[in-house]
Parts: sequence; C-alpha cells; structure tokens
Amino acid sequence: MERDEDLLRAYFSPSRDDIALEDIDLGRIPSHVSIIMDGNGRWAQARGLDRSKGHVAGVDSLRETVTTSVRLGLDALSVYAFSTENWKRPQREVELLMHLFATTLVKELPLFHQENVRLRFLGDLTALPKKTFDVFQQGLDETADHTGMTFALAVNYGSRAEMTRACRTLAERASAGTLDPADIDEAMVSSQLYTAGMPDPELLIRTSGELRLSNYLLWQLAYTEFYVTDMYWPDFDRWEFLRAIRSFQGRDRRFGGVINR
Ligand code: IPE
Ligand code: IPE
Ligand code: MG
Repeated sequence: MERDEDLLRAYFSPSRDDIALEDIDLGRIPSHVSIIMDGNGRWAQARGLDRSKGHVAGVDSLRETVTTSVRLGLDALSVYAFSTENWKRPQREVELLMHLFATTLVKELPLFHQENVRLRFLGDLTALPKKTFDVFQQGLDETADHTGMTFALAVNYGSRAEMTRACRTLAERASAGTLDPADIDEAMVSSQLYTAGMPDPELLIRTSGELRLSNYLLWQLAYTEFYVTDMYWPDFDRWEFLRAIRSFQGRDRRFGGVINR
C-alpha cells in the first residue's frame, strides 16, 4: 500500500527515547498485521474501575492502531475483538461489548472514509444482536468501494468453528457431486475461511502478556512471527506498534528452510 512519508514522519514525531521511526526499515513493513487485543479488564481493575471502562478505553487504542496502520502503509490490519468463547462472560459484559461494537462503528465510519479503509468481518455475524448486525452490514456497504487498507474485525470468531464450517462446505459439495475430494488442496481450504483472499498475517501482536492463541487464526498463523507485550490493550499505542515491527524486522523468517549466510 502507498504511504505518505511526510505524514508518517510527522505522526511519529517527536520520537521516544527507546524507539524512533528511523529504527524501522520502511521497505520491510509487514503487509498484514494481526492483533489479539487483550487486557481491557485487567487495565480497568488495576485502576479500581469496572471492566467495561477497559473496553471503552480500548476503543481509543484501536482507533490509533488503525491510523498507525494506514500511515505505515499496511495492506491489512486484523484484530480479535470477540471470540466464540467470549459468550461465556457475564451477560452484562457481553451486552456492553455488542453495544460498544455498534456505537463505535457508527462513530468511526468517517475515519474509514477519510482514510479509504475497507472493512470486513471475520466470524459468524448471524449470531449477533440485530442492531450490531445491521450496523456491521452498513459498515460493509459503505466501505465496499474503498481501495486502501483492509481492516478486518474478528467478532464471534473462533478458528475451530471456522475450520469446521470450511470442512462442512467442502463435504457438502463432494456429496452433491460438484467437487472431487482429490481436488481439495491448501488453497481451496484457505478460500473457505473467513479470511479468504487475504494474505496470511506476517506479524501477530498479543497484548497483556498471555502466551496463547485463544482459538485465533490457527490456520493462518502457521508461519507468522509473534510479538507479545505485557502492555494492556488500552495502553497500546503507535510506539509499541513500532517496537513490534522493529522486533519483527530483527527475525530470520526461515519457513522451514535454511538461510544462506
Ligand atoms: C480483551 O480484554 C477484550 C475482549 C476479549 C473482548 P479482556 O476483556 O479479555 O481483558 P482481560 O484479559 O480480562 O484483562
Ligand atoms: C482473546 O482474549 C479474545 C479476544 C481478545 C477477543 P480472551 O481474554 O478471551 O482469551 P483468554 O480467555 O485469556 O484465553
Ligand atoms: Mg482477556
């Protein structure tokens, strides 16, 4: 994706003591970054606040992260907002989150227009409350013609459900006689996932220190580099994003092969 280097420099100025835009090789920015936005509840609890305040604060981090991604010229940013397991949370928290998704999306649509960001969703949206579903649909419709960065929001997303659904679809085609099982290859499986058509993430960031995937993009992350920060999601900002990219750029990506030195 194209980037405006003057805007980018201004955005990362003045730099921090430990990190500056100059520490990054702009020729090797990952094209797809994915984020497990974790730690909203702990952020709030550490301040004696209700968990819901953490979710509200997390919206600001997400807005900054979308802008940072556009400034850096990413092709795609995907974020995990609600898992298939998160329905287990207290009903009040689930309702608050669903409400927050709807109100935030409406509020942030001008940003998507301004930045030419195209929205997509990962997950089964049919299980969402009608209001949230309708607003998501509106977001899809209104940004469908945008040609800039893709912003993928994973809501009611679970990797196992995603893969199970893909298996079922292919099995149905096979039993209908329209698909020869011998023709099933990795590309065909990928094309049945919610991420169809998107390149796999090159960098996965997880906030709040947990060292697990929590049922997120199990197929797509096969060769992704991980960056885990102890920072809670509401504290995540453009500088921590830059640290993650600096770390990513210091890695040898071997994909099972060897690097010739
Ligand atoms: C991430 O923060 C947001 C969602 C899962 C919706 P959490 O709510 O999981 O916060 P912690 O992990 O309990 O601190
Ligand atoms: C993962 O966070 C899901 C999202 C960030 C949306 P969780 O807080 O649900 O994950 P666990 O329960 O710690 O594994
Ligand atoms: Mg959590």
